[in-house]
Amino acid sequence: GWALSDLLHHDILQQDFLDTYNNLTLKTLMGMEWVSKHCPNASYVMKADRDVFLNLGYLVQQFLIPPKKNFMTGYIYRNTGPLRNKGYKWYVPHEVYPNNTYPPYCGGPGYVLSGDLASKIYAVAQTLSIINMEDVFMGICLHALGISVTNSPWGVFNMYRIEYEKCRFSRLVMVHHYEPQQLLKLWPGFQEPKMTCHR
Ligand SMILES: *[C@@H]1O[C@H](CO)[C@@H](O)[C@H](O)[C@H]1NC(C)=O
Ligand SMILES: *[C@@H]1O[C@H](CO)[C@@H](O)[C@H](O)[C@H]1NC(C)=O
Ligand SMILES: *[C@@H]1O[C@H](CO)[C@@H](O)[C@H](O)[C@H]1NC(C)=O
Repeated sequence: GWALSDLLHHDILQQDFLDTYNNLTLKTLMGMEWVSKHCPNASYVMKADRDVFLNLGYLVQQFLIPPKKNFMTGYIYRNTGPLRNKGYKWYVPHEVYPNNTYPPYCGGPGYVLSGDLASKIYAVAQTLSIINMEDVFMGICLHALGISVTNSPWGVFNMYRIEYEKCRFSRLVMVHHYEPQQLLKLWPGFQEPKMTCHR
């Protein structure tokens, strides 16, 4: 659990708000604030949920070299809009967000941005009305900054679970819906040389 991880690594940050689903945006903004204050020169920042398979080596080699600015990528959602029915988990009232469409945004389970964007997003967020979907809100911040998300090749960021297959996973960045126990089990084998995988 988190307490053990904090004892071992001293790597858990907390701020003064309830850690609830509807406060997720505050949690992401807390991360942006932390990065802009404590790692202002980071080349990139990755936001990932606890339940994703993440192939950082492939991400860096394929998509992040050479370093970029004003860059954000992941699984891109386009032409989506707010759900106006109170029954939905993702209900957004008119008063909170009047437009019928959202700007393009990267799906929350895993996205990456250039380090320079952390402070820009944090700053512009202070001028906007916050909505509870953190990933959509990042898109709204980028829109306000006049910055576009960058497409990633199809199949590289996966919002649905795919059964683990070492060679296939060596050529993708992110797969949603892998629990920590499953990740611990497959990771050692994934780290071994992938000589039998065709490029
Ligand atoms: C968000 O956190 C604040 C501060 O702890 C709390 O008062 C509020 O109820 C939380 N909001 C939601 C929607 O959980
Ligand atoms: C970031 O880079 C600037 C300019 O090169 C340097 O002055 C500063 O010390 C660096 N900050 C950190 C935290 O590394
Ligand atoms: C909302 O709609 C207005 C009017 O069309 C537009 O100027 C603005 O950029 C939109 N905002 C977002 C976040 O899409």
